[in-house]
Amino acid sequence: MDTSLNSAISIVERTLAGELARPEVHTFFDRDTFTATHVVRDPRSDACAVIDSVLDFDYASGRTEEKSAEKLARHIETAALRTEWILETHAHADHLSAAPWLQARLGGKLAIGQHITAVQAVFGKIFNAGTAFARDGSQFDHLFDDGECFQIGSLEGIALHVPGHTPACMAYVIGDTVFTGDTLFMPDYGTARCDFPGGDAATLYRSIKRLLALPEQTRVFVCHDYTAPPRDVYAWETTIGQQRASNIHVHDGIDEPTFVAMREKRDATLSMPKLMLPSVQVNMQAGHLPEPEDNGVRYLKVPLNTL
Ligand SMILES: [Fe+2]
Repeated sequence: MDTSLNSAISIVERTLAGELARPEVHTFFDRDTFTATHVVRDPRSDACAVIDSVLDFDYASGRTEEKSAEKLARHIETAALRTEWILETHAHADHLSAAPWLQARLGGKLAIGQHITAVQAVFGKIFNAGTAFARDGSQFDHLFDDGECFQIGSLEGIALHVPGHTPACMAYVIGDTVFTGDTLFMPDYGTARCDFPGGDAATLYRSIKRLLALPEQTRVFVCHDYTAPPRDVYAWETTIGQQRASNIHVHDGIDEPTFVAMREKRDATLSMPKLMLPSVQVNMQAGHLPEPEDNGVRYLKVPLNTL
């Protein structure tokens, strides 16, 4: 009996029936990292939440910029919204989070899944982060448990633990909508890789099956899109029904061994994301950049021959 999933289904059904408020979603797409950042707004109040923000980063020069985050912040300020949550679906390996910068500007509680501690343990070791780096998730204001309910104004939300891509991945069901992070991509692109430390294809399959048990009309917003031929425009919204009918990796009828074999074969061909090392290093600390050294400069580490 999956009580967390049943609660999520109930929230979606009550929203579809008009009993609960339906979230308005405004998406910002970052073409450098192919990331979709979602602003989720309660139509009945001024409350909103930000999901998976991006800090611009040029690895070659080591320069960070807040252009994308500034655009997002202006959107929220212009609409006079109150930011209640800054949510991360997981510790991203392909872009730096702008969560601390946005929080300083807009307020709100910064949250991620409670299993971020497992990610911090693994990468704390890889980056030899030392005792100053707490591995207890205390860099975040809140750690979500599976099945934990939350509100954005009058919107009802529930956090679901969906490990597989990483051990800490969360999906957020809000009203009639699920924000899947990297657990599901657009149907024609499929699913995310499972070969990072702590990733596991069979675990991802089971997490996806939970999400696919949501009502078919549930709106799905993904965290990344890379397009997929013949489609040449970026997209980030689909439905559970469309995923079940046509997701190229996990549509109805694909069993676990078939998925795992496909995923592991494909993962073996993928190179590391360009921004893997800076991203994980910063995102395991909730998006905080490393402390400056005695010359006032912040440095990122590159562990050699480790990953
Ligand atoms: Fe990811």
